[in-house]
Amino acid sequence: MPSEPWWKSAVVYQIYPRSFADSDGDGIGDLGGIRARLDHLRALGVDVIWLSPIYPSPQDDNGYDIADYRDIDPVFGTLDAFDALLADVHRRGMRLIMDLVVNHTSDEHPWFLESRSSRESPKRDWYFWREQPNNWTSAFSGSAWELDEATGEHYLHVFSRKQPDLNWENPEVREAVHSMMSWWLDRGVDGFRMDVINFISKAPGLPDGAATDQRQVGGEHYHNGPRIHEFIQEMHREVFAGRDALLNVGEMPGVTIEHAKLFTDPARNELDMVFQFEHVNLDQRDGKWDSFPLDLRDLKRSFGRWQEGLAETGWNSLYWNNHDQPRIVSRWGDDRREHRVRSAKALGTLLHLHRGTPYVYQGEELGMTNVPFDSIEAFRDIESLNHYAEAVAAGEDPEAVLASMRPMSRDNARTPMQWDGSEHAGFTTGEPWIPVNPNHTEINAEAAVADPESVFHHYRRLIELRHTEPAVAHGDFTMLLEDDPRVYAYTRSFEGTELLVVVNVSGEAASGAAIPDAEAWAAAELVLTNAEPEPRGLELGPWEARVYRRVT
Ligand code: NOJ
Repeated sequence: MPSEPWWKSAVVYQIYPRSFADSDGDGIGDLGGIRARLDHLRALGVDVIWLSPIYPSPQDDNGYDIADYRDIDPVFGTLDAFDALLADVHRRGMRLIMDLVVNHTSDEHPWFLESRSSRESPKRDWYFWREQPNNWTSAFSGSAWELDEATGEHYLHVFSRKQPDLNWENPEVREAVHSMMSWWLDRGVDGFRMDVINFISKAPGLPDGAATDQRQVGGEHYHNGPRIHEFIQEMHREVFAGRDALLNVGEMPGVTIEHAKLFTDPARNELDMVFQFEHVNLDQRDGKWDSFPLDLRDLKRSFGRWQEGLAETGWNSLYWNNHDQPRIVSRWGDDRREHRVRSAKALGTLLHLHRGTPYVYQGEELGMTNVPFDSIEAFRDIESLNHYAEAVAAGEDPEAVLASMRPMSRDNARTPMQWDGSEHAGFTTGEPWIPVNPNHTEINAEAAVADPESVFHHYRRLIELRHTEPAVAHGDFTMLLEDDPRVYAYTRSFEGTELLVVVNVSGEAASGAAIPDAEAWAAAELVLTNAEPEPRGLELGPWEARVYRRVT
C-alpha cells in the first residue's frame, strides 16, 4: 500500500523515563538506561518510541512542567546523551517522538519569570493574568487561579499552580513554540505527542464555567476552543510542512468524534491521530475517584462509534494504558495469578486488532499490574496527593479516600519497569524514587522473554500480525454481538481477506456461537490465540481470545 502513511501499520511504545531504567544509581531512570534497553523494544517489534518529557523541570508534575524546551534535565542526561540515544534508535530501524507540553510551561520557565515580573512586562500577555479570577477549577484540585502577591493579579493554571497556561492568542507565543518544535525536528526527532493540545484555545473573556460540572469547572471553555483548528493548521504550515515521515498525535481530553475527524482528516493538514478519552471514562461516575466495574457493552458502543466515525476520514489511536491510567490487567482484566496472563493477552488482542495505531505503555507487554499501596506515604503523584489532602480536609474518612485512590491513581503506572526478579527489579542499583511493585519477583521482563507463552510473546505476535497482515492496518471494521455482556467480537476485511477477532472478556466460559457464520469461522485458519486450540466451535474458556482468518 505505497500510498498509505507508514504509521497505519506501526505500533508505538511509550517510555516514562523516570521509571524505565536507571544507569547511574540515583534511583531515577535516565537516557543511559533507555539506551541500554533498546533491544527489549526491538525484540518486541515496536516501530516508534514516545518519550514522556525529559526537559529541565522542577518535576512538580514529573516533567509535564517544563522550564527549558531546548535542553535535557540533568537527572535524565544531556543533549549529547540524547543525540546518542536517537542515533541508536534510528540504527535499530525505530523512530522517536518527543512529548510536547505547550498548553502550559513551568512557573520556573524564563518566559513566566519575565511575565510575572511586572504588569508592564513585554511577556505579561504570554500568560493569562486577571485581577478577578473566574470559577474554573484545576485538574489537580482547587481553583485554577493563583494570586501573585508581587503584582496583585492572579494567573491561570488549568493544572498545578506550577503549570501556568500559555496564552496562544498571542502570536509571539505561537511563533516561539513553532521555532522550538522545528529545532527538535532539525535534530532528528520524528514527531510529537502533544500534551492536552486541544486545551490551547480558550474562549475569549474566559467566562465562568457551568457550576454543575463538578469535575473540572470551566472545561467547556477550553476543550476544543474556538481557534483550535486554526492554531493546529498554522503549526502544520509553520513546522511540519515539507518534512517527511513524521508522526504527530494530539492528546485530547474531551475531544468528540466530530472534532477528531477534523483534526485527523489528511486534507486539512492538522494531526495524524488523537488520543480520545471516552473509553477510559466508562467506569467512572463523578470523576476518576468514583469508579465501578466496566459494562462491556458500553465499551463496544464507544469503540464501535469511534471505529465507524473515523472509518472514511481520519484515524484512531488505540490505547489501554499510559502514565495517567491504572494498569489494564488490574482494571478490566483479572490480575489474580490464575487469570493474569490470559486476561492480559485477551485485552491486548481485543485492542490491537481494531482499526487504528496501537500504543503500548512500558510494562503492559509484561502484564504488569496495579500496586498494593498501603498508605498515603506510598504515593508520589501530585494529583493523588492533592486529592487526598482536599478530601480529608473536607471531612472524608482517610481510609475510604485511600480505597478510592488505589484502583485509579496514576502512580499505579509509574512504579519502576520490572526487568528481573532482583531487589528493585533491575531498575536501579540505588533507592528507587518510588518503590517497585512487590510482584516483580514473578512478573518481569527476564522471565517473560524466556517463556514462549508469556504476555510479552503474545504482544510480539500481535505486533507482527499488524506488520504482516494488511487487513489489520487497512481493513474495514464491523462490530458483532453488540448486546453480549461477555464476548467482544468483530471482523476486519480487506481485499478478500477477512479476520474474526473473538474474545471472552470474563472469567467464565462464554459462547460466540451467535456470530454470523460461526461454524464456518470455527473451521477457518486460527492465526492467534491465548489458549490451547481445541475443536469446540466458538465456545470460549475464561478470557479466551481467538483470531481467525479466511480468504474469500
Ligand atoms: C496530560 C499528561 O498526560 C499528564 O500526565 C499531565 O499531568 C497533564 N497533561 C498536564 O501536563
